[in-house]
Amino acid sequence: MHASTAVQPIAAARDESPWWRGAVIYQVYVRSFADGNGDGIGDLAGARSRLPYLRELGVDAVWLTPFYPSPMADGGYDVTDYRDVDPVFGDLADFDALLADAHELGLRVIIDVVPNHTSDAHAWFAEALAGGPGNRARERYIFRPGKGDEPPNDWESIFGGPAWTQVPDGEWYLHLFAPEQPDLNWQDAEVRAEFTGILRFWLDRGVDGFRIDVAHGMVKDPALADVGRTGQVSLLTKERLPYFDQDGVHEIYREWRTILDAYPGHRIAVAEAWVPDAERLARYVRPDELHQAFNFHFLDCAFDAAAMRRVVEESLAIEAPTWVLSNHDVQRHVTRYGGGYVGQRRARAAALLMLALPGSAYVYQGEELGLPEVLDLPDEVLQDPMWERSGRTERGRDGCRVPVPWSGEQAPFGFSAGEPWLPMPASWGGITVEAQSGEPGSMLALYRTALRVRRDHPALGDGALRWLDGPSGVLIFDRGPGFVCAVNAGPDEVELAVDGELLCASGPVYLLSDRRSRTWVVPAETAAWWTVG
Ligand code: NOJ
Ligand code: CA
Repeated sequence: MHASTAVQPIAAARDESPWWRGAVIYQVYVRSFADGNGDGIGDLAGARSRLPYLRELGVDAVWLTPFYPSPMADGGYDVTDYRDVDPVFGDLADFDALLADAHELGLRVIIDVVPNHTSDAHAWFAEALAGGPGNRARERYIFRPGKGDEPPNDWESIFGGPAWTQVPDGEWYLHLFAPEQPDLNWQDAEVRAEFTGILRFWLDRGVDGFRIDVAHGMVKDPALADVGRTGQVSLLTKERLPYFDQDGVHEIYREWRTILDAYPGHRIAVAEAWVPDAERLARYVRPDELHQAFNFHFLDCAFDAAAMRRVVEESLAIEAPTWVLSNHDVQRHVTRYGGGYVGQRRARAAALLMLALPGSAYVYQGEELGLPEVLDLPDEVLQDPMWERSGRTERGRDGCRVPVPWSGEQAPFGFSAGEPWLPMPASWGGITVEAQSGEPGSMLALYRTALRVRRDHPALGDGALRWLDGPSGVLIFDRGPGFVCAVNAGPDEVELAVDGELLCASGPVYLLSDRRSRTWVVPAETAAWWTVG
């Protein structure tokens, strides 16, 4: 079946808009996607074997989370060698094979680059420690003397606890994340040159782009002044912080853009930038900087019509908007939206909203299955550094990283021939890819339909929208040519007059037959798409 799937040419066939402006990009959290060798950990060979599934799902591109050599203090976001593959995930030949297969299937591939920090096991950091204070190797990182016995300032790590760790010779180094992730000094020319080399290494291998980890954090205010308060920072804070969203980061991206533009085929970069508002986010996607930035304000938004409309409006002011509901760092949205039936119903409606909006959408593996957050992982299996760093008060992000259930009745549901690295709920037998594939009402069927319609309908993807009037609690907009989306976010069903044919709906939408105008009943917390005109 897979082999016969009709493959569209990789270039955007529909119009002149570059592929990424309307792309649906599927996030593969490699460790949890598919295990190719039975050690219980997802890997590149496993991911490669599931590419036909992604092709059939209807996405345009895949984002692979870090697969580089790493002690895995933070799920691989602690890299020791940016130009290789960790043996647990395979080797460079596996990567090349995955990339070749993806391209053959018409899927683009973007990879994660982690420039804010290395692993503490990186050769540079070993050199910095060995060299002692004043050594040139320390300039690649942010080493400072303390204030007496205290760290150089009061900054706290995103994972909890101080953002500074003291080394045996008395100096301290900065780590915005775990102590195993020392921050690089982006004022250092060698650091900058190293990363342009890394980008070129992967671009030469044929990757279609990069997701930039902590893209808002690489430059720190050189004063390293106290922030004047304690407590962990929330990533979407409105606070101006001396280590996030400093204007200096943009200079780095201008340089990176020239590198990307020198390669054929629209290579892109997407920023992971947690910034206070859409205006600050827009700065990352200026024409000579990055192509996209994740829209965490959309992800953070409650299932509420007014709030969603506000976020959508603000986001549309951005040159190339993106939409994201979940990723490997946040609670899965089915659970965020209330869990159970309510969570599923809202997640279905949110998917149709996201996929109808102008721009590019990111789908996190398993959201197309409606996977909930796993809230009852036993303490002893938790691996997220946040758990220990917070003094075991924050359980961390393992609950959204539980492996994907593919098939069968029993864990690990086709994910692996061995014991999965995190236990999978026994109850997932009914929501595997296999189980949902035969179910027209399943979340998977909804994603497949919506993605197919999105590919086929000329109004979807890149473009503009126009708000239409609707009852309170309802978002309704049209897109040209000939497309209407309505999201009834309210608690009661509504009647909507739409002179069109239903393309798909997240719930039981139906046409009232006793009216002269075409009037549709849209149940509570339900979205629908029509083709009109
Ligand atoms: C953001 C990544 O998505 C997250 O998983 C990681 O812990 C931090 N950056 C630090 O690299
Ligand atoms: Ca494996």
